[in-house]
Parts: sequence; C-alpha cells; structure tokens
Amino acid sequence: MLTIHPNPISWYPSSPTQLRTSPSRLPCTTPTLPATVTITSSSNNQSKTSSAGNIKRLVLTEDGRTKLNAYSDREFYAYPRFVTHVDNGFISTLTDLYRERLKPGWEILDLMSSWVSHLPKEVVYKRVVGHGLNAQELAKNPRLDYFFVKDLNQDQETELESGSLDAVLCTVSVQYLQQPEKVFAEVFRVLKPGGVFIVSFSNRLFYEKAISAWRDGTAYGRVQLVVQYFQCVEGFTQPEIIRKLPTGAAGNGQEDRSPFGWVMGLLGLLSGSDPFYAVIAYKNFKPVYE
Ligand SMILES: C[S@@+](CC[C@H](N)C(=O)[O-])C[C@H]1O[C@@H](n2cnc3c(N)ncnc32)[C@H](O)[C@@H]1O
Repeated sequence: MLTIHPNPISWYPSSPTQLRTSPSRLPCTTPTLPATVTITSSSNNQSKTSSAGNIKRLVLTEDGRTKLNAYSDREFYAYPRFVTHVDNGFISTLTDLYRERLKPGWEILDLMSSWVSHLPKEVVYKRVVGHGLNAQELAKNPRLDYFFVKDLNQDQETELESGSLDAVLCTVSVQYLQQPEKVFAEVFRVLKPGGVFIVSFSNRLFYEKAISAWRDGTAYGRVQLVVQYFQCVEGFTQPEIIRKLPTGAAGNGQEDRSPFGWVMGLLGLLSGSDPFYAVIAYKNFKPVYE
C-alpha cells in the first residue's frame, strides 16, 4: 500500500491513484543480457534504442537476500524510533558531502528516511521528498515537503515521474533492501540525466533485518556490494567510493571488528566516530559544475 502525505504545496504525483503499472519500466529481472527498449523523440520524430536503466545481472543470490527476521518490515517499523542511527561525526561528514555535491534549488528524494534530515540546514532546495516506512517519523522530518510510505521489499516501483529528480539519497539503510537491483533501477529511472545517487552507510544495523549478504560481509565486501548494485544497472557512471574511518580502538584507521568493538560501537562508546562509507554514481554522466 502506498500513502502520500503532502505537506504545504501540492506536487507529484499529479494523481495519487495513477499507479505505474507498465513492467517495461523495470524491464529485466533475470540475469540475462539487457533487452533494448525503443525511445521515440517527439521533437524530431527519430527513434533510437537504449538499454539505459535495465538490470544487466542480479548481484544477490536468493540466499543473500534473506533476513533473520522474515516478518513484515511494515510491522517492524510500525512504532516510531525518534533516535539517530549514527553518531555526530558520521552525520557531519555526510552533511559536508551533501553540501559539496547537492546544489541549491535541486529536487531531492530522501529514500528510506526518518524524522531527521542530514541535509545542510542553510541550503534551500526546490523540493525534498521523503520516503520510509513510518509515517510518524517522516511527518516530524522538518526538511520534507512531501513523503510517502512504501515497503521496498514488497514493491520497488514508485509513482515518481521519470527523470524528475536531481538527487536521490539513501542513508544507513541500503542493507535492508532485498531487491536492491530493482530499487537501484527505479532510482535510475526517476533521476534526471546527470542526477546523482548517494548511498551512505556505517557498520551499525538492525542485525535481524539486514540481508544475509550484508550481515556476513566485511566492511570491504559491503562497499563492493553497493558498487555492484550500481554496476548492475545499465547507465550509471563508475561508482565513486568515499571512506572516512575512525582512529578508534583498533588504532590503525581500521574499524574494530572484535565483539567488544562491535558492542561499543553499537553503544556509541568508542572514541572517534562511526566509520563512514559513501558510494556515489550519476545517471549517464557526471556533470561539471562551475
Ligand atoms: C536505520 S533507519 C535510517 C533512517 C534515515 N535514513 C536516517 O538516516 O536516519 C532505516 C530506515 O530504512 C527504512 N526501511 C527499512 N526497511 C524498509 C523497507 N522494506 N522499505 C522501505 N523502507 C525501509 C525505515 O523506514 C527506516 O527509517
């Protein structure tokens, strides 16, 4: 079920009942070579073929998609959690990254959002749309002009218009996606050419709700997983990786993977900060801004 909650100004979708039903928008769900789709240009009446946005191959095995807690995600997130999921160091690194990459006046989607925004407060964007699983959390988020609630493990298609957004953000949540290939293809569809998708994460997680490929992975493996999510969709630029690791208990810039370090990290008791990882790619090309 999809719920649209408009805040002051009416935006899209123009008709909430107008669900996109055409499977051709997410054309390829099998690990085969991409099918080609035909795009007709109305301006010059020429047609050209493009496989951009198609899923070239599946990254995860069926086993890799499983969760320890297989009950409904909607139920798991039914009660609002008015907490922050990462520490201040992580958040300020992320906000600096947004300040650098996201331009004023942009239209932005904060995918898998909550009651907090990590966007720089002083920057004015045209519109910020939020998505998540808990309406109470999203309603409290001061940066959102709109939000919608949708379980992306049930359905990966949104009502957002193709090519309508300058940026999509996904913060400390990618580990919960069981169909990441389809979600990344959907993000590709809604981005404008040159639009950016920024996926950031740390080492914290709701363990029972993370997919097994993430739970069982190393920090390096998790970064590579997100890189592959981008690479499996035709048309994203080569993903860029940003890491900022704490000088924590391990003392060598590496995260402390011992059970003690993990528990301390979970409680936010380690010196330094939560490790920061971001994987970034653009739709079709990376624009050069003055
Ligand atoms: C750890 S919180 C991160 C929230 C936010 N991005 C932040 O930085 O505070 C994980 C978020 O993922 C969203 N989420 C988890 N499973 C989901 C699913 N199956 N479909 C859509 N959203 C989901 C939840 O709404 C939750 O807010």
